[in-house]
Amino acid sequence: MSVTARERLLKRINDRSARIGIVGLGYVGLPLMLDFSDAGFQALGFDIDPKKVDLINAGKTYFVHIPDSRVTAATERGMAATTQYSRAAETDVMILCLPTPLNRDRGPDLSFVIDSLEGILPFLHPDQLICLESTTYPGTTEEEIKPRIESTGLTVGDDVFLVFSPEREDPGNREYSMSNTPKVIGGTTPACLEVGSALYASITKRVVPVSSTKAAELTKLLENIYRAVNIGLINEMKMVAERMGIDIWEVIDAAATKPYGFTPFYPGPGYGGHCIPIDPFYLTWKARTYGIETRLIEVAGDINTAMPAWVVGKAADALDALGKTLESARVLVLGVAYKKNVDDVRESPGIKILQTLLDRGAVVCYSDPFVPMLHRMREHDLKLTSVEINAELLSGMDCIIVATDHDAFNYAFIQKHAKLIVDTRGRYRGKFENVVKC
Ligand SMILES: NC(=O)c1ccc[n+]([C@@H]2O[C@H](COP(=O)([O-])OP(=O)(O)OC[C@H]3O[C@@H](n4cnc5c(N)ncnc54)[C@H](O)[C@@H]3O)[C@@H](O)[C@H]2O)c1
Repeated sequence: MSVTARERLLKRINDRSARIGIVGLGYVGLPLMLDFSDAGFQALGFDIDPKKVDLINAGKTYFVHIPDSRVTAATERGMAATTQYSRAAETDVMILCLPTPLNRDRGPDLSFVIDSLEGILPFLHPDQLICLESTTYPGTTEEEIKPRIESTGLTVGDDVFLVFSPEREDPGNREYSMSNTPKVIGGTTPACLEVGSALYASITKRVVPVSSTKAAELTKLLENIYRAVNIGLINEMKMVAERMGIDIWEVIDAAATKPYGFTPFYPGPGYGGHCIPIDPFYLTWKARTYGIETRLIEVAGDINTAMPAWVVGKAADALDALGKTLESARVLVLGVAYKKNVDDVRESPGIKILQTLLDRGAVVCYSDPFVPMLHRMREHDLKLTSVEINAELLSGMDCIIVATDHDAFNYAFIQKHAKLIVDTRGRYRGKFENVVKC
């Protein structure tokens, strides 16, 4: 009896001789490649950015949350990176971890995924598994990926295998990593699901198979939309509580004592990162093609995107109460990464706060130990570098806005020397004369 592509690939996965290609070596791709290398596979990374490729090949990291030592150890075991798509021919598995942003009309921009797929297409061969990990709308794998693969003459499910398995990477999370976070997966055919599940079982304790790639795609969107909507809800609750003179943080702590039916979410200056502000609109866009308006998702998005301006308004009110105008104020923004203890500034509300302050004429600076300077972004070019915190700097500021509560900041020292603090992260509990909770 002849051995099938499925059997050959399963054998190579199970004996770790399968060579794993990862396309897109960003926040998702690099840790994933390291996980496969740690599990005993030869891993080859693909990226269009030669700087990343050179750093990896030199055994170096470019993320603060990944130490050089991890990359060095992996390169010593044979892990490498390349800009050449032709090397896809050397692999048994190709995993796509490309950005999936929004386009100017707030619709899905799949160009990174499609461009890279078209780059590797000429080098795909029988007995290969192709996995899409990028967050996207239900139907992408079947409608956009499968036909392109089959245009090469390969049949998905027979010659090659195709799965969608969403990434749950949470950069900087020390409790949950790939190994102890269950991995959802959907296959184009049962054979695809079997091969893909075998692959991911080698790096995580629990693989969660679902019935289709569409179900896996929607699972990821549900997870992120759940967060986006609840963040919108708690930000709305914050505005109500503030008007009523109630401390929302006290209320959340009290509600969180309920042992069932309540999961705490916390207010902030808005939402950021590559996922939560973006992904919900992938579903909104696709739902519209089915004649459905996703109203709750839109409203949560409106509330969350209005937050940076709301925070600046609160700072202006607090300055006004001290006889100062925002327009003539010196304002320090603490933290510009979108969440604490990471260096990612994509869609960050801290950046939007800086921009709004500048637009209103304030003199601004920022301090962020993870972000030494602000590079040009799609919508902002602030040309600022992080300032060092000291007593003189703090006391010279009319207002300090805590936008991101990195653990590295000395909050007691900041409070001691500040004239006015606008705290968007609930870092200052209790009553302080110079702190406005917002
Ligand atoms: N960042 C997260 O925490 C996170 C978590 C879960 C899911 N995701 C999803 O994972 C996907 C990837 O996100 P990310 O944060 O890793 O993105 P990223 O921007 O950090 O990395 C993407 C990488 O792809 C490279 N790239 C771009 N075009 C390419 C091409 N044509 N060929 C080869 N490489 C190319 C870029 O140079 C970059 O290194 C997105 O869909 C995102 O929504 C991200």
